[in-house]
Amino acid sequence: DSKAAVSDALLAWYDTHARRLPWRKLPGEERQHPYRVWLSEVMLQQTTVAVVGPYYARFLERWPRVEDLAAADDADVMAAWAGLGYYARARNLLACAREVARLGAFPSTEQGLRQLPGLGDYTAAAVAAIAFDQRAVVVDANVERVVARLFAIDTPLPAARPAIRVATDRITPDRRAGDFAQGMMDLGATICTVKAPRCLLCPLRPHCIGYGQGEPERLPVKAAKKPK
Ligand code: ADE
Repeated sequence: DSKAAVSDALLAWYDTHARRLPWRKLPGEERQHPYRVWLSEVMLQQTTVAVVGPYYARFLERWPRVEDLAAADDADVMAAWAGLGYYARARNLLACAREVARLGAFPSTEQGLRQLPGLGDYTAAAVAAIAFDQRAVVVDANVERVVARLFAIDTPLPAARPAIRVATDRITPDRRAGDFAQGMMDLGATICTVKAPRCLLCPLRPHCIGYGQGEPERLPVKAAKKPK
């Protein structure tokens, strides 16, 4: 396999099969707006795409720019967040919006983004890749599953995380890292599913060691629950 074989196959699939999610750029747009990417990624942290959709639309309608959100009343934002859960995320959201407004713009690197309130490894990498087209290694639960299968990483989670990260780094392209990350998420959500993966439709099947071994569904291996 050439280094780019996996990312080329994935990006070609993404070009025709990307989910049309409200925070995604339209065909022909260069890239996605950082405020929108950041808002959607924070909302998506522990909430599904289907639930986030209407919340995302309402937030953008009410606070179209990060400066608007920064100037909002805390209580209004908390009320608008109700139903998404984890109020700490809403508090961080406001703290982050205020810091970005103070700075004048979102930082454009992963390292810079990492300094903002509430931005962990995942969110900083996702915003850097998706909004700024930086080469960042983006690993969420979907990507974790795809990569564990692709390389047949059978160390149980969470111990497998460092190896999954290294493997994801190895297949992340220098260009279109944001499309690559979102393509991996879409693949995990629609093809490389937890149960009954649809391998015959998968653009990565020729490269997938887990598929080659005949039992991709067993991956990633979860650590055995401790007996009670
Ligand atoms: N889950 C988290 N971020 C996502 C994104 N940008 N697209 C699809 N699913 C996601």
